[in-house]
Amino acid sequence: MNSNFEDPNKEKEERQTIIERPIAEQPLASFEQQESIQWKVEIFTGIRPTGDLTVANFVGAVAPILELQNNGKHPMVFVADLHAMTDKEPKIAMQFTNDVVADYIALGLNPEQTDIFVQSTIAQQVGQLTLYLMRHISIAELIRVPTLKDKLKDGQREENASALLATYPVMMAADILIQRAKEVPVGEDQVPHIEVTRLLAKRFNAQYGQTLYVPKVQQVETLRIRSLKGEGKMSKTNPNGAIFLTDSLDEVAKKIKKAETAFAGEMSPTLASHVTLAKNLTYKPEDKVLIDEIIEAHMQGQTVMGDFKKIFTEITLRFIENFQQRRAQVMSDPTYIPSILEYGAKKARENADETLGSVYEAMTSGAKEG
Ligand code: TRP
Repeated sequence: MNSNFEDPNKEKEERQTIIERPIAEQPLASFEQQESIQWKVEIFTGIRPTGDLTVANFVGAVAPILELQNNGKHPMVFVADLHAMTDKEPKIAMQFTNDVVADYIALGLNPEQTDIFVQSTIAQQVGQLTLYLMRHISIAELIRVPTLKDKLKDGQREENASALLATYPVMMAADILIQRAKEVPVGEDQVPHIEVTRLLAKRFNAQYGQTLYVPKVQQVETLRIRSLKGEGKMSKTNPNGAIFLTDSLDEVAKKIKKAETAFAGEMSPTLASHVTLAKNLTYKPEDKVLIDEIIEAHMQGQTVMGDFKKIFTEITLRFIENFQQRRAQVMSDPTYIPSILEYGAKKARENADETLGSVYEAMTSGAKEG
């Protein structure tokens, strides 16, 4: 048996210490932040090219990015298609790329406020920095990154899992460091990766002088939406309990009709999740007021779940219909998405080339004895 799977408590202990532990031979930076290095991108994050988005993906993953964008920031967002090769055929990942960009734009990502690019358009630069960064982390440390351990527990085995799974955090660090991102908003599950990013930047700087900007992690709270039927979370694996952005209005109405609620006077996790979902899919304040009133009556023992489903259905249909119209609009001009991506890629490439230039310069001239 693989020793990794023997003692769950031992694993937990390791989890807490992994990121802190420096490689013995490499000095940790003694300075926390660098004055001389200027960040280039204030907010930077990556999205996974997965098809078949659900309304739960919107609420959990897309809405937080829209919020940053609408707060007057100028985020940069990229589709992590190279990362997707860890568990997908490159061809499949590529197919999803344009779709996911179209989905995000139809959901409200505004190319005038947010730069969007595809990771593989700067594959050479990211690959090169990944390689350089790889020198600053040990095999043992890579294997102890908590996200890798989770994947290996989720059924993949060291014997057959691709090595990309282990190098994933290093490439993610390269994505971030090459753009000189100031802040990286991610969900809780990605926080360990940003810790690796910070660690790598500090180690590089300690070795070669102040070169890489050490980014800050910004943990965003991601709302978790349950399956309409109450069986776990809303996801592709439970299609009957999931509302896909591509579902017909008929299908959506039918799914909500069959959704599980709760007995009068009772709040269940599933009903609470429906309420969260409905409130996050509407832009009308009066809908939220109405939902609160219905739930209040429900808690007082009145039979109002029919009323709740009515407004829940109305909100969801409006959202889906709006999305589908906008998506058709986005797709109607075949040059639209490519031109947005080219614009984003140009900026990303400029940042990347500049960072790589200083990295190369630092490595060839500034090296301390180490
Ligand atoms: N790993 C991230 C995810 O699964 C996606 C990602 C790749 C990313 N590179 C990144 C996110 C850089 C933020 C910054 O969601």
